[in-house]
Formats: sequence, structure tokens, C-alpha cells
Amino acid sequence: MRHPEITLPRLLAHRGLSARAPENTLAAVRAAQAAGCTWVELDVQLLGDGTPVIWHDATVKRCSDGRARLADLDLPGARRLDVGAWFGDEYRGERMATLSEMLALVDGLGLGLNLELKVNRGRSAAALVEEAVPAAMEALPPERLIVSSFHAGALDAARDMAPAKRLALGVLFEGVTSDWQHRCEALEAFSVHADWTRLTERTARAVRAAGYPLLCYTANDPAAFAHQWGWGVNSAISDDPTRFLGHLPPEA
Ligand code: G3P
Ligand code: MG
Repeated sequence: MRHPEITLPRLLAHRGLSARAPENTLAAVRAAQAAGCTWVELDVQLLGDGTPVIWHDATVKRCSDGRARLADLDLPGARRLDVGAWFGDEYRGERMATLSEMLALVDGLGLGLNLELKVNRGRSAAALVEEAVPAAMEALPPERLIVSSFHAGALDAARDMAPAKRLALGVLFEGVTSDWQHRCEALEAFSVHADWTRLTERTARAVRAAGYPLLCYTANDPAAFAHQWGWGVNSAISDDPTRFLGHLPPEA
């Protein structure tokens, strides 16, 4: 099966450079690029009015000055929130990014994007895929886009939207399940994305032997992650990829 010609980096900035800037914001993506990152991972979901925005949680409590559920916000309401001050005074006034604003920035900076379709409890996977996937495919060339998700229905719907040679899909696992290969084959997936704290050497080697790139989240301690590179892991998704500088083994 053919996939887009994706050159995976060793390190992707998780939710942008989220150790140094408020996660999933334009500022975090600019910071990632300024720190030398070539790819970012970002979460997308829908506001209550159907606007796709870059956001991780089901509510805005943790990362803004508001308390609402995302499903109860429309775009004007979301824009009134300050999504930077919680992280630091220098980010005061940062606004929630729409997917389209973020795609324009990612493309303008020449970055690759691992766009995670975040289907929080009670939300529609179909509506999210319908809004987010065509927009991402329109904004970015296939070599600079991976669409990933934990949600099986979202990945199925994304695959139905575009063939494997046009759209790279990443299958996200907490613990990699025993049926991982079946799921990947059924989806014609590009890559496997695993929680590194639950990944075993045996599974890592099996994924690599089957020909799938293996990405691990969220790796922030280069010393603790040394074994995983040895198992053939291709990429680490990190809140601060700069910590890994000088700690990367040669490409496997
Ligand atoms: O895409 C990898 C990682 O972001 C998945 O977990 O909760 O950080 O979105 P989470
Ligand atoms: Mg994510």
C-alpha cells in the first residue's frame, strides 16, 4: 500500500512547544518552530456551534480564565476567553485558535502536523471528521500531515474520506492492544502512536517489523526514553523536544 512520502522527524512538539508556551495555541506553535521543531502535534475538536478549534480538554477550566464545556461555547464566547494568562503573563491575551487559523500558521511556517482528532465523551466523531479532515487536507500537502486518533470511528470515517495514498492515518493507543495489526491493516494506517510508558519491547519490535513507523507520546525525559530508541521507535512526541538535543542515538 502506498502512503504519502512523509519524512518523520525524531521529535514532534506535543500540543506545540507546550513546556514553554500555553498548549495548543498559535504561540506554542511559533515557539516550537523557533526552537527548531519541524513537526507539531495538536488536538482538534468542535465548539458547540460546530467550529473546529485547537483544544485538548472537554472544558476550558484548565487552560483558560473560563469554566465552560467546549460543547456549550460558540466562537464569540470562545474568543472572549484568555487562553494564555494561566501559563504566564507574557501570554496574556492569547486567544483560542480555530483550526483554520492554525492550519494557516502551520503551513506558513513550513511545519508538519500530526492532527489528533480528539473525540471527548458525548461528542460526535462524525461531525468532527467532516469539519476537520477536509480542511487539513486542503491546507497542507499530504507529506506534511498525519491525522491521528484514539477513536476508532473517527479513523474509519477519515479513511472513508480519502485513500491511504492521500491521507496518512496514525492509530493512537494507550496500551497497544493485541489486535493492533488488524486495526492498522483495516484502516490502511500509516503509523502507530503509543504511550511510551506502556509500550513493551516485544510490541515495539513487532510494529516496526510489520513496517509501521512507531511514534511515542509523551516523552519528556531523554534518559528514561533511551531504551525505546533502541527498540526501533522512530519518533518521540514531547512537550519539550529541546531536552533531547544531544541525547538522540543515530537513526535506526
Ligand atoms: O497524540 C499523542 C498524544 O497527544 C495523545 O494524548 O491526551 O496528549 O492528546 P493527549
Ligand atoms: Mg493529543
